[in-house]
Amino acid sequence: MKGILLAGGSGTRLHPMTLAASKQLLPVYDKPMVYYPLGTLMLAGIRDILLISTPADLPSFRRLLGDGSQFGVSITYAEQAKPEGIAQAFHIGADWIGGEPCALALGDNIIYGDGITTQLQAASSRAEAGESTIFGYRVADPERYGVAEFDSNGRVLSIEEKPSTPKSDWAVIGLYFYDARVTQIARDLAPSARGELEITDLNKVYLGLDALRAEQLGRGCAWLDAGTPGSLLQAALFVQTVQERQGLQVGCPEEIAFRMGFTDAAALAQQAAALGKTAYGAYLRDLAGGKLA
Ligand code: G1P
Repeated sequence: MKGILLAGGSGTRLHPMTLAASKQLLPVYDKPMVYYPLGTLMLAGIRDILLISTPADLPSFRRLLGDGSQFGVSITYAEQAKPEGIAQAFHIGADWIGGEPCALALGDNIIYGDGITTQLQAASSRAEAGESTIFGYRVADPERYGVAEFDSNGRVLSIEEKPSTPKSDWAVIGLYFYDARVTQIARDLAPSARGELEITDLNKVYLGLDALRAEQLGRGCAWLDAGTPGSLLQAALFVQTVQERQGLQVGCPEEIAFRMGFTDAAALAQQAAALGKTAYGAYLRDLAGGKLA
């Protein structure tokens, strides 16, 4: 199972913050935004990751994440020259995917909550077995998102992209697990009226093939997007609140790597040393020392 992290776009809703910096590199409290969806892919057990960004921003992502070995994963990089849709990731990544099942996480989507890891790993297993998965989350403003309608058994009945009259309150979050057919199906997609390869159109093909399942995130979970100044601040305050109350990190790839068995205590200690006197570094030192078992 492979995973793509899509961290492109121009972040226009965050200008001027994103005039010179990628949105997905902005801080969400104490770490760069992209750490959170990277952690999500890792919790699904994915260790082979392709990060796609703009030609201008790719060098910064490389500087931040390197080859991924500090997180016990392998990170490869590819350019999205123009923002021509989320599903374009499967054109850009086609050779790298090499006909395997592949997940896709948007670089600005943060999910948090008990039980999510089980849902991620179930989605990964289904993708290996020939079924794809979307994740739904109940929101107050579904018209801003892809919207899924479910039957009483949680089966997907319909999906629509930003409908003016949504058929449900369930937004389709920016996290998708696809089976081995994904590059083939993405190759045949036509651009939408706004000239983009829509992820919703890709999902509709799977729905038509009766190969699309959904995981509905419970009300005890949080799905945050950090696309506007207000939602970016809300996400930061949420992370700060949970972290300071529990004394445990949210979206810390080094911790996830360690707990998933991708790295060992020596790797944690090395990262802690590199991060010097920060609270983040101290946390990794405690983790390496067995204080957070
Ligand atoms: C995209 C997708 C939409 C999804 C959303 C999640 O929208 O097109 O279906 O609900 O991501 O963040 P965008 O935010 O790119 O407009």
